[in-house]
Amino acid sequence: MTRLSPPNPGEAGPYARASLVGSAYAAIQHMASVTQSPPGPDLGTSIYKRAGHLFRLALDPIGAVDARFARYGDIYRVGQSSNSLYVLKHPDYVRDVLVTHAHAFGKQHGAFQRLALVLGDGLLTSEGERWRRQRRLVQPAFARPRLCEYSETMVEEALRTAGELRDRARLSLSAVMTQLTLRIVARTLFGQHLLDTSRVARAMRWLNAAFGRPDLMPRGLPTPTRLRVRRGVADLDAAVFGMIDRRIASSAQGAVREHDLLQRLLDARDEEGDLRGLDRRELRDQLLTLYLAGHETTSHALTWAFYLLSQHPAAQRALDDELARVLGGRPPGFEDLQNLVYTEWVVKEAMRLYPPAFAIPRLAIQDAAIGPYPISAGSEVVIWTYHMHRDPRFFPEPERFLPERFADSSSAERSKHAYLPFGAGQRACIGQTFAMIEAQLLIASLAQQVRFRYDGKRPPRPRTGVTLAPDNGLPIRVERLR
Ligand code: HEM
Repeated sequence: MTRLSPPNPGEAGPYARASLVGSAYAAIQHMASVTQSPPGPDLGTSIYKRAGHLFRLALDPIGAVDARFARYGDIYRVGQSSNSLYVLKHPDYVRDVLVTHAHAFGKQHGAFQRLALVLGDGLLTSEGERWRRQRRLVQPAFARPRLCEYSETMVEEALRTAGELRDRARLSLSAVMTQLTLRIVARTLFGQHLLDTSRVARAMRWLNAAFGRPDLMPRGLPTPTRLRVRRGVADLDAAVFGMIDRRIASSAQGAVREHDLLQRLLDARDEEGDLRGLDRRELRDQLLTLYLAGHETTSHALTWAFYLLSQHPAAQRALDDELARVLGGRPPGFEDLQNLVYTEWVVKEAMRLYPPAFAIPRLAIQDAAIGPYPISAGSEVVIWTYHMHRDPRFFPEPERFLPERFADSSSAERSKHAYLPFGAGQRACIGQTFAMIEAQLLIASLAQQVRFRYDGKRPPRPRTGVTLAPDNGLPIRVERLR
């Protein structure tokens, strides 16, 4: 904690004595330290208060956090110990955590540690020199010429999915989008066509169910949830090691050398001039991270986007007009992206209302500050993107689906970090452009061929797992246009 200096540090001696001036100074210092801490609930040491807090969070995380923001403002503190939890939703505080003082806030937060039990030490969870090396290795896979190549695969897979959708079929849109985005990431980054995506999708459902709520059971107890996580991880391992082994086998048989990310990671030692390449475990961690991070978020963004379009006929019409004008019935391509402006706004607005990465956690690894508040090392920090995206100061009429709010003139007025679907600073999403291109192309391809009619009995609710998914899998009825 930063303390007020005595009026004259050279006179610290007299202040240390129990004099009248000394007591006055102590009182001022106490007041300062109080005002230097954001407001928040004092759970004290009461086990009941803490259990109540966790229970409310487990039951309705979004509502519980919303109520706290309404009561305490843009930042609140839970717990009064030196290692408190700070929860925030203001762009200036976001900048402090992710950009200005990014070196002081690391990824050792419990949420990432739980994720690391599955992902290992890949790009999303690693830190320091190890992370820098991984980022250097992976970055070229997201360079513009590569993205241009991937766009063909994205459209091909979207058209294949569109072709498979029968008129009036009743389906879960989440499941359709998961299969589609899984196939795309596997083909573009790892050059793999033949994959059992259903097991991976099932593993993701289990992981989301397990990670969406605090685990309150005693450590070591083999609960059904924990057993499912274990089985899910085994399935994911089988999928990823299968990709590695197939590639090694085809190289040994003299197959044409691939130039995808998988090959790049296999060849890491040559390109880095570093004799130690990635071992099998490191390779697995990296591939699994990209495999999961590369499909799950985009799949939810698309599911929410189609749901919102199904509920807003005017937006659907504006999208149809743009697709007819720009594409005239043909499939989209990389060069069309710059003209698919409304399509891009639809994606952005869907991610504003339902940001797949709804919260970004960090752990203070050294003393730091957020705005006027000193934060001591060991404190947890959570940025709630979901609530910031629905704050009327940054997005007027925040509950409305209004893609045109992303027109240049209006988005320029917004604070830079108020819109945060991909994070910010050096740990921002490496797949941001990949995801935007994919979402635009998939919407443009599918919307020309099918309409998804929402078929749920009640509106879907956002469920906070690893990412923000619709709680009912988004039931839809397919209507073919062609
Ligand atoms: C709509 C789609 C996506 C959303 C909303 C999204 C969101 C995010 C966010 C918010 C972060 C920062 C997390 C943090 O600061 O702790 C992140 C990081 C990351 N994302 Fe994405 N992402 C998306 C798509 C993708 C895709 C397509 C890929 C890969 C193909 C990907 C791979 C990654 C990786 C590897 C990181 C860690 C980067 C690092 O720490 O260096 N993401 N993503």
